[in-house]
Amino acid sequence: MTAAQIADALSEEDLERHFEQVIARDQRIEPRDWMPEGYRNTMIRQIAQHAHSEIIGMQPEGNWITRAPSLRRKAILLAKVQDEAGHGLYLYSAAETLGTDRTDLTERLITGRQKYSSIFNYPTLSFADVGVIGWLVDGAAICNQVPLCRSSYGPYARAMIRICKEESFHQRQGYELLMTMMKGTAEQRELVQDAVNRWWWPSLMMFGPPDADSPNTARSMAWKIKRHTNDELRQRFVDMTVPQAEALGVGLPDPELKWNPARGHYDFGEIDWAEFKRVVSGDGPCNAERVAHRARTHSEGAWVREAAAAHAAKQRKEAEAA
Ligand SMILES: [Fe+2]
Ligand SMILES: [Fe+2]
Repeated sequence: MTAAQIADALSEEDLERHFEQVIARDQRIEPRDWMPEGYRNTMIRQIAQHAHSEIIGMQPEGNWITRAPSLRRKAILLAKVQDEAGHGLYLYSAAETLGTDRTDLTERLITGRQKYSSIFNYPTLSFADVGVIGWLVDGAAICNQVPLCRSSYGPYARAMIRICKEESFHQRQGYELLMTMMKGTAEQRELVQDAVNRWWWPSLMMFGPPDADSPNTARSMAWKIKRHTNDELRQRFVDMTVPQAEALGVGLPDPELKWNPARGHYDFGEIDWAEFKRVVSGDGPCNAERVAHRARTHSEGAWVREAAAAHAAKQRKEAEAA
């Protein structure tokens, strides 16, 4: 009997039970395994949004590559932005194991049918933004992604292990840049503070809506796609970041931010969820620019895709002839 025949012989209930058992045992669901359609679609949506975020996320920092203040800073920034491209490609490949295809996903991004992280719709106004993005945005990404290394879908979990190692380099290069600027002139310190003031709240929004307003969280937790809720991860990020801000000597733009000894966590102010909804649904400062740029580079790259397909066809032919 082939695997397909065995699967045919099993009832939907048997398959479902087996799927639940794999999840309960903390084992991984692999591409060949049966999975509920809801699980498959949730995974496709999550991985695609993640991939889109990596690719769109190259733009705000890419903006500073030609204006980096030194060769060293340029080399670091180039390496970082290239890493993000790699993360995107890795994740599109992971999404393809679920039966979707990268061309289709790119089309969905360009036509606004799939979202990406709202954070990349804010502008980068000075080189200090490069440091703050590394520190806060990549820092928040690490908080989100480390638990995803144990996500129940095998290809996604494995991709996340390598991605997290690189994100940790991104976070440290950002912090090191800020540390250097904070030891510099008063003007440099002001640039850092201004960037922190602009990026702090959008970074907290990266964890998504509050748990009470996040209808998919419970199901994603039950399927072990997600391991912690949005609010748990946000709190972890705040607790981790406040001492780092103190070490840097920058203020965080929240008068309500205060250590709460009873909770053993920092309390913080209310996030502007109306702004989050506006930016995520397309009306942020740079949404139109980001998507237009992606659409333009996609069409400019058409010849590369055609050349790669022609090369692959030629190699296939040669292999057949041999
Ligand atoms: Fe990344
Ligand atoms: Fe990164």
